[in-house]
Amino acid sequence: MTKKLFFGSNLKMYKNTADTVAYLKELEKKTKDIPDITMFIIPSFTTLERASQAVDHRNIMIGAQNMNWEDQGQFTGEISPLMLKELGIDLVMIGHSERRHVFNETDVEENKKVLASLKHGFTTLLCIGETAEEKDFGISAEVLRTQLKVGLHGVKEEDLDRVWVAYEPVWSIGVNGTPARADYAEEMHKEIKKCLKELFGKKGKEIPVLYGGSVNPTNADELIVQKHIDGLFTGRAAWDATKFDLLIRQALKAYKRKDD
Ligand code: PGA
Repeated sequence: MTKKLFFGSNLKMYKNTADTVAYLKELEKKTKDIPDITMFIIPSFTTLERASQAVDHRNIMIGAQNMNWEDQGQFTGEISPLMLKELGIDLVMIGHSERRHVFNETDVEENKKVLASLKHGFTTLLCIGETAEEKDFGISAEVLRTQLKVGLHGVKEEDLDRVWVAYEPVWSIGVNGTPARADYAEEMHKEIKKCLKELFGKKGKEIPVLYGGSVNPTNADELIVQKHIDGLFTGRAAWDATKFDLLIRQALKAYKRKDD
C-alpha cells in the first residue's frame, strides 16, 4: 500500500456511555488485526472518560466533537481544552458541518479552536464543505479555500503533522444527504490538496484529507480508490461495529486491487 488510510466516525448526539463503550470494545476487537490504518471514533462529551479508558489508543484514537478555544472563563456550557486533556483523548474535531450550520460557527471561530487544539497537543481534524447553494453557484472551490485559509491561519509548521482535514459537503451529510459522486469528491480533494500545498509547501501535501458525507458500503470502494482521498469519515454507516469493520475491510480490498 502506498499510503496510510484513515477510517473514523463521529457518533454525533447518539449512544450513551454504556453503548459507546460496548461499541468501541467490539470495534477494537474486530479491527485490531487490520494493519497500517489509522482509526478514530468521536463520541459525545459525556462518554469521553470511559471511552478513552475502553480502548488501546494505538488501535482507536478517541476524539471530541467540539471545544472552546479558551482554557477557562465565563463561557457557560462550553468545554475547554484543559478539560479534554484531563480525559486522555487524542483528537479534537473542529467545524463539523452541524456546528457551522446548526450552531452558526464561523471560520474565525474555527480558527481560534484549531490553534487552541494544536497548542494543547491534540490531533486536530478541521471539517470543511460547501452548501448545495454554493455548489450550484459554482463556488465550491472558493468556499473550501476560504475555510482552509481562515481555519488554518497561523498554524505553525511544527504542528502540521497533527492537522487532518475532512471534506464533507453539507448537502451530502445525514439522513437527507445525497452522497457525493466519487469524481466530484476527487475534484474537490485535489483542490484542497492544492490549497494546502500553497499554504504550507511540501508539508501541506502530507496533511491527510478524508471524505465524509453519506459514506456507505455501496460508495466506499469508489471513494477510497481516488488518488487524493486519504480516508473515509463515516457517520451512520459506522455506528454498528460489525458493519463498520466490513466497510473498512471492503474498502481496503478495493484500494489494494487498484494498487496491484
Ligand atoms: P453521515 O455523516 O455519514 O451519516 O452522512 C457524516 C458526518 O456528519 O460526519
